[in-house]
Amino acid sequence: MDLASLLDRLTALRQQALPAVEKADDPDELDAVEAAYLGRNGELRKLLANIGQLSGEDRPKVDAAANPIREELEAAIAARRARLDSIALDVRLAREKVDVTLPGRALPRGALHPIAETSREIARIFGQFGFVTYDAPEVETDELNFQLLNIPADHPARDLWDSLYVAGTDRRWVLRTHTSPGQMRVMQAHKPPIRSLTPGRCYRYEAVDASHGFEFFQVEGLMVDEGTTMAHLRGLLDEFAHAMFGAGTRTRFRPGYYPFTEPSVAFDISCTICGGVGCPACKRTGWLTILGAGMVHPVVLRNGGIDPETYQGFALGMGIDRITMLRHGIPDIRAFLEDDMRFLERFA
Ligand code: DAH
Repeated sequence: MDLASLLDRLTALRQQALPAVEKADDPDELDAVEAAYLGRNGELRKLLANIGQLSGEDRPKVDAAANPIREELEAAIAARRARLDSIALDVRLAREKVDVTLPGRALPRGALHPIAETSREIARIFGQFGFVTYDAPEVETDELNFQLLNIPADHPARDLWDSLYVAGTDRRWVLRTHTSPGQMRVMQAHKPPIRSLTPGRCYRYEAVDASHGFEFFQVEGLMVDEGTTMAHLRGLLDEFAHAMFGAGTRTRFRPGYYPFTEPSVAFDISCTICGGVGCPACKRTGWLTILGAGMVHPVVLRNGGIDPETYQGFALGMGIDRITMLRHGIPDIRAFLEDDMRFLERFA
């Protein structure tokens, strides 16, 4: 092959290759075009292999012609590749675009457990009278759960609470049978004036039925100040009953017995079902007992580090389960801990 025909064929190669590059529609096709013209076994190499047949002075002329062609082709391929990439990106963006007008996928909506909701409502109402909520432990010492509350070991008053003790602790640790140890902890940690609530889970060795759980919830209220009287307790409980069960709710005190209060009372409200006429829910009495209360016993005040000559106090203990059952007309206490979604969703 002579110089002239080699140069002609170089020109022809350029004219063939450029449109082939432009025609390549996807990256694979472009790779193939690149390999066909510029690759190790491509057209350009094959053509240049003929250079050996030329004279020494002609060879540089071939290089001078071939190099710009190679560079032009390389540039064209790079440009085409960039173009194909951007087309591919456009296609992907079009395909993956989010339709913000489509309705969203609804997230299941949670809600407070009815016990938690009642507990908060109680805290809200008492909070309006300056009561502050404290946490107290569920596993208690026998001393705090009983002894410091004026219930000595082996005292018959212990029969009021069927207790669950922690194994291997020689009955020194008990699952709290009520939230009353919470009032002792508050007294030991704070000086009067005190207005506290301690809500939480309690445990008893109970035969479980519709109105008894071995696990249930109470909230303890405590007020200690100079000159605190039974009248303050009565006034506060009336306000509470009206806020919780409606302004028309009637209330009464009945004498009661608790070792940690003297005097002690049971606090009743007019039946929320029959309004006080008498029905099966109130055992035809027209009244429902919702809590126990009384003036804190001087021995208990002293055990809490408070001088009963200077300070008086009242305490109250209320079953949150029972209050919740009354508010919502729930007939069975066991529903609260069964985690049946059909029950819980009614409160969502
Ligand atoms: N701790 C009592 C119980 O579990 C409830 C109670 C009654 C608490 C009278 C009190 C109180 O603080 O004064 O049955």
